Amino acid sequence: MKQVINLELNGERYEVAVAPHATLLEVMRRELGLVGAKKGCDTGGCGCCTVLVDDRAVYSCMTYAMTLEGKKITTIEGLARDGKLDPLQQAFIEAGAVQCGYCTCGMIMAAKAFLLNSRSPTEAQIRQAIAGNLCRCTGYRKIVEAIGLAAR
Ligand code: FES
Ligand code: FES
Repeated sequence: MKQVINLELNGERYEVAVAPHATLLEVMRRELGLVGAKKGCDTGGCGCCTVLVDDRAVYSCMTYAMTLEGKKITTIEGLARDGKLDPLQQAFIEAGAVQCGYCTCGMIMAAKAFLLNSRSPTEAQIRQAIAGNLCRCTGYRKIVEAIGLAAR
């Protein structure tokens, strides 16, 4: 049976009826119209669905919506401020790190969580930070470059 819960996403409050087994990814995409987080594998293996919960990167396909009342959820839709892209979004454009774009939102959110706590990361640290995010289009060189650019 569905239950009404309150979620805080990108600074907005949403009242939404969810089934006990509904994941955050399903609720965002189906109920709230937030489609930045992608459904890649739906089994915790690709990172396309990554969002921030209380500033930590989580796989939204593996997180029950019901567990998130009182938490601060940030999605790719919440990164830009006052019409200005987040430095990570801008860096991905400048470095040419977006190809088909399917992995990009999850990649940026994983990088966002990482850079909140790491100001001058090494390349190895950046690669480790996105180890849970797969890009099927390319190597990771430009993605790593973009994250380094945003850190600087
Ligand atoms: S869709 Fe969530 S990890 Fe792949
Ligand atoms: S840009 Fe296509 S999967 Fe990463």
